[in-house]
Amino acid sequence: MASEFLFSDRTDMTESDLRPVPFERYQGMMLPEDEPHITGMIVSQEERDLCVAQLASWISDDYKRIMSPGETVVVTPLLNGALPFSKDLGELLRVPMETETMKVETYGGGTSSSGEVKIHKDFSRSVKGKHVLLVEDIVETGNTIDFMINGLLKHKGPKSVKLVTFLDKPSEHNLYVPIDYIGFSIPNMFVIGYGLDYDNRLRNLPFVGVYKE
Ligand code: IMP
Ligand code: MG
Repeated sequence: MASEFLFSDRTDMTESDLRPVPFERYQGMMLPEDEPHITGMIVSQEERDLCVAQLASWISDDYKRIMSPGETVVVTPLLNGALPFSKDLGELLRVPMETETMKVETYGGGTSSSGEVKIHKDFSRSVKGKHVLLVEDIVETGNTIDFMINGLLKHKGPKSVKLVTFLDKPSEHNLYVPIDYIGFSIPNMFVIGYGLDYDNRLRNLPFVGVYKE
């Protein structure tokens, strides 16, 4: 599973390239104390929508090629972060699908990774012989995905496994990460919005912003 597509490479962006957040547009969506920590936008709401539509079109085309009549794709967002992305993507996929969820956690809160992966929720139905599309909000070190694919999914006998992530931080990978579809590659900045949280807040923001502690 090589990296097939790179929708947009933003890894060279620096703090000064970030767009200012039009806070008045998002009034009431966040605590006033969070505002000063959000230093700019790395992906706007409009860019997000274009990206999701493009990814959905590529993914649909690929599955149409590999699926047999009567088969479905098990779209599996990793909770909680991938929910908004998975909902938007699922609505635009043009192949029959089912939904499952998985919850694993690598972050204890704050902005640094603990590196440990804990299972909170496994698949509730068998995925044996099925096409599984893992949906992730962001890949950083790759530990979560490696655990998901090599630690969990491999033993469940899926027919195929693909991974789509909305964001990727390639500079932070510490092992090979088999990503099939990437929305945006970004530099090593801590980001919030579109499912991504700071201490479980700010997931509801429809853009991706940079959060400075
Ligand atoms: P990995 O296991 O190091 O690849 O980390 C992936 C997980 O860490 C993601 O699913 C997120 O939950 C979290 N994460 C990594 N970077 C960020 C970030 O910039 N903002 C919010 N969460 C992040
Ligand atoms: Mg996550």
